[in-house]
Amino acid sequence: MRFPKWVPGLLAAVTLVAVTLAGPAGAQDLRIGMVTPPPHQWTRSANALAERISAETGGRMKLAVFPSGQLGNEAQMLQQLQTGALDLAFLTVGELANRDADFGILIAPYLVPDAESAAKLLEGRTAAALQEKLGALGLKGLGYGMAGMRIVLLSKPLAEGGTVAGRKIRTLPLAQEMDFWTRAGAAPTPLPLPELFDAYANGQIDGMQIDLEGTWNNRFQDYSAVVLDSRHAIFPMFAVASARKWRTFSEEDRALITRLVGEEAAHIRATYPGIDADYRAKLAEAGAPLAEAGPDIFGDAVESWYEAWREKTPLLIELEREAKALTP
Ligand code: BEZ
Repeated sequence: MRFPKWVPGLLAAVTLVAVTLAGPAGAQDLRIGMVTPPPHQWTRSANALAERISAETGGRMKLAVFPSGQLGNEAQMLQQLQTGALDLAFLTVGELANRDADFGILIAPYLVPDAESAAKLLEGRTAAALQEKLGALGLKGLGYGMAGMRIVLLSKPLAEGGTVAGRKIRTLPLAQEMDFWTRAGAAPTPLPLPELFDAYANGQIDGMQIDLEGTWNNRFQDYSAVVLDSRHAIFPMFAVASARKWRTFSEEDRALITRLVGEEAAHIRATYPGIDADYRAKLAEAGAPLAEAGPDIFGDAVESWYEAWREKTPLLIELEREAKALTP
């Protein structure tokens, strides 16, 4: 068959438009979700990750960042990861521990004294073993980040030698944490980070477990009679990908995402000791009611919690061993 002379030119132009609209070969538009607001370190790190992914792939791969639970709460994000509707997320331990109690060992009280040791513990054997368990939940683990050491805020004063018994305290929705506060005689009230401000300001809760960064960024100190710098637990972050989506990526893209997310997670771990120190100083300078607090504020909850959870999740014993070796 013979075509008029202009047909090949037209075909070439159509092909060029089609290629341009489809983007470069192997183009990937990825999404990452997290519950933290824009000023939080996890969100900043996600933005840095997005920039590096775009730069290193010459714009072929793009990462859109969805902070503040814009894609839903963590239960919903986990479902999206499992179906492949979401590519990546920075998750707290809450929903993971609800599916496999072993994850909850990471929030054991007084495992380590500070953020430096917390970072080391998350680089250890037990944390690595937990990361392997993410596969059973439809996730691919890409490394641990963390937030600052957990502290306690109370809206009403605490008498000298007093405990948290009788207070309605915000927690994460995992059994280990709620059990700890119940043993301390408090009423644990699970609330996700994005709902916390209204609940505290409206008096729905009269205390919370959080960190120095979250306290300062939300001005929770203004609603608190006391900011107890208890540093009683670590707060791991799981950097994860959807296992379903992971299988669709090329070898090269998997290696790139693994490297860049791993580096960002390591940066987060290395940064938190400084973040805790900075916010502690900011709060002190602003005249926040900061006070040191030891395990006594929890009554005898620490001891009885360990007795119960060593039996329910024996992996905790391994983690305790590792933690002890870090702080001789
Ligand atoms: C929280 O729910 O307390 C929290 C969540 C993510 C990062 C830091 C704190």
